[in-house]
Amino acid sequence: MEQTKTIAQAARGLHGTVAIPGDKSISHRSVMFSALGSTPVHITNFLHAQDCLSTAACMQALGAAVMFESDTELTVCGHGLHGLQEPSSIIDAGNSGTTLRLMMGILAPQPFLTTFTGDASLHKRPMGRVIKPLTQMGAKIYGRAQNTKLPITVVPAGRRLSGMVYESPVASAQVKSAILLAGMYADAPTTVVEPFTSRDHTERMLEAFGVHTVKEGTAVTIRPVESFTAPEAIEVPGDISSAAYWLVAGAIVPGSSLLLKNVGVNPTRTGILDVLRAMGAHIALQNERVSGGEAAADIRVETSALHGTSFGAEIMPRLIDEIPVIAVAALFAEGDTVITGAGELRVKETDRLQAIADEFNKLAPGSVEAGADSLVIHGGTKVQHASCFSYDDHRMAMSLAILGTAGAGVTLERPECVNISYPAFYRTLQDLQQ
Ligand code: S3P
Repeated sequence: MEQTKTIAQAARGLHGTVAIPGDKSISHRSVMFSALGSTPVHITNFLHAQDCLSTAACMQALGAAVMFESDTELTVCGHGLHGLQEPSSIIDAGNSGTTLRLMMGILAPQPFLTTFTGDASLHKRPMGRVIKPLTQMGAKIYGRAQNTKLPITVVPAGRRLSGMVYESPVASAQVKSAILLAGMYADAPTTVVEPFTSRDHTERMLEAFGVHTVKEGTAVTIRPVESFTAPEAIEVPGDISSAAYWLVAGAIVPGSSLLLKNVGVNPTRTGILDVLRAMGAHIALQNERVSGGEAAADIRVETSALHGTSFGAEIMPRLIDEIPVIAVAALFAEGDTVITGAGELRVKETDRLQAIADEFNKLAPGSVEAGADSLVIHGGTKVQHASCFSYDDHRMAMSLAILGTAGAGVTLERPECVNISYPAFYRTLQDLQQ
């Protein structure tokens, strides 16, 4: 795979229809939960990208049957909630925080040992946020750096986990999900309280497996699970976090009109629609429907004159992964955009606040100031061609590609990391410029 890629400025607008690839969060959960069932589940529109393939390999290593019928279609069959088997080797979560954190929740109650590894980025990311609450439930999980980092080993707890009420200091669906999944095996109800509600795909998909959770404000409670009944099929909607690149590109590249097909519009994920609309973007939802417990729609976006905005902690969980590309929209807007309460971006695949500031300032000198948990983006700063680094972070690579397309082009070092979540990204970008 090529190591640098020059993305030329779009001569004219972007036009066409994009079939948005399957949602990453939902694809992970579809394989994990199906592997805990005891009947086959047929999964369609699965995201065939590195992160979700890490989860598929992980569940296979734990004894589930994972049979691919095509890139995006597979059947998964487990041996029941208590049927996972001790893996014969170390499990590799790759670049995927979701794989590692949710799996710790599933494995904490199991009567066998599992050791995890991952790539360089995952070794740097904080895992204490999951290990600490699971340990409070009675789990035995050990990791480097005082049980906060990979490599991590989960050993049998030697007793049933205890249900608990956990007040999470972070609004994180990965933390919430890990605790709820461990809570299925606990001796009493388990409640997770978050500062703000994070994405609820775990709760929605558990419902399809006959497991009810109860939501009250920002608290979610799960009871010990007696029966876990897999559905016959799961259809994964398209990923709004992948659609985000086209939402922004369509809004800022002059003369564009794009139709994004089959986008998941679960309200815990649609912060980007709210922010882009507040900035003046012309976005219209069509063909709104519900599929497999998740809202979906087609989205039309057209070039619009954007203006700056400000938003903070409350909306952050609903657009956490979209901040890099929202920052691109802000750069092409009139006036400043102020983003606060974004400290979580410092512990994503890379430190995204620093990466945005460093790379945007190469392409548009003086355009971005990063604070401890904030960004100020000066819209309308003059944009030039530059060579940028992806930090091996898929969302940085795609955001910089969109910035270059709307601006004066970009040469990207290590562009191939888009394979983590969107292998067809560059091809699609090229197609839309025809
Ligand atoms: C995810 C939750 C989010 C998000 C990640 C996927 C999930 O992470 O950034 O890409 O599938 O639960 P946090 O829960 O840590 O914010």
